[in-house]
Amino acid sequence: MVDAQVILGIETSCDETAAAVVTRDLQVRSSVVVSSIALHEQFGGVVPELAGRAQVDSIGPVVEAALADAGLDSHRPALDAVAVTCGPGLVGSLLVGVSMAKALALSWDVPLVGVNHLEGHLVAAYLERPDLERPVVTLLVSGGHTLLVVEDQPGEFRLLGSTIDDAVGEAYDKVARYLGLGYPGGPEVDRLAADGDPTAFSFPRPMRGVGLDMSFSGLKTAVVRAVDAAPHARAADVAASFQAAVVDVLAAKCERAIVQARARTLALGGGVAANVALRAAIGALAQRLGIDCALPSLAYCTDNAAMIAAAAFHRLRASGPSPLSLPADPSLALVLA
Ligand code: KG4
Ligand code: ZN
Repeated sequence: MVDAQVILGIETSCDETAAAVVTRDLQVRSSVVVSSIALHEQFGGVVPELAGRAQVDSIGPVVEAALADAGLDSHRPALDAVAVTCGPGLVGSLLVGVSMAKALALSWDVPLVGVNHLEGHLVAAYLERPDLERPVVTLLVSGGHTLLVVEDQPGEFRLLGSTIDDAVGEAYDKVARYLGLGYPGGPEVDRLAADGDPTAFSFPRPMRGVGLDMSFSGLKTAVVRAVDAAPHARAADVAASFQAAVVDVLAAKCERAIVQARARTLALGGGVAANVALRAAIGALAQRLGIDCALPSLAYCTDNAAMIAAAAFHRLRASGPSPLSLPADPSLALVLA
């Protein structure tokens, strides 16, 4: 068993280059995030080659800034480990962070810790609320993943349900593209929905009443069909009606998960956790059920390195350091009980 007091986290799984210094009691001493999203906007999605090249440009300055903000000397920082996202993600982007983390761990002579990106999102809520009462049910909604997970004991996660097709963020991005909005589409749909009528279209609520798995590809197709059939419909009404269906399904799944897991806390993680309507619905649900609710700040919903450092404390205790041969695995599976 290896215990650490201070960890440098590095996250480069997609278009964000991030580094953070986090202490064992989950105080964030620094967290720096640089995004290359502006390079990808004109292409309507992240271009892997461009993202990888941007990671190379940014990684050095971002790590230096995170050390400086934490008041650490970049030559001999008082750190106990270097943690890095080793998957899933874009391989060219992951390789930059993994290579940097290996070089730093080697030169500072501290352990290297490979972290699954999703484990980072699953612990993000603890960064601002280290004392959350377990069991904690977390709804992880990102661009690539949609999972319902319960944590019974610290660092012990059980999968309760997941999407059987599209991730929620993916559905948002596709609907946004169909409505002619920019990339990433989630925030744009969110903004537009605020001015729309959520009852204008009655979109399906796939699998709402069944189990804890989810499905969003049929809903996305229903939106496309509805827009084709009513080309003059207000985009705001389409966005609001789509969002109402998504939020309704997610809230129903969370409620079932809370009851099944006898949860004391409901938490959100992942980029879609920034969604205004989802945050409101999750807050209201927790209040109705009389349990605590942890909604991370937007900076900890989207990709960041503080969550990677936070997850590394568990990983190091459970599995020890990673070898310097640690691979970058674009389809790394999340191993849960
Ligand atoms: O977690 P994240 O930053 O990256 C991944 O690991 O995938 O999530 C990005 C996703 C994108 O699909 C984006 O459209 C979505 O999160 N997103 C939102 C909002 N902000 C970001 N979706 C809905 N409403 C938002 N406000
Ligand atoms: Zn993410």
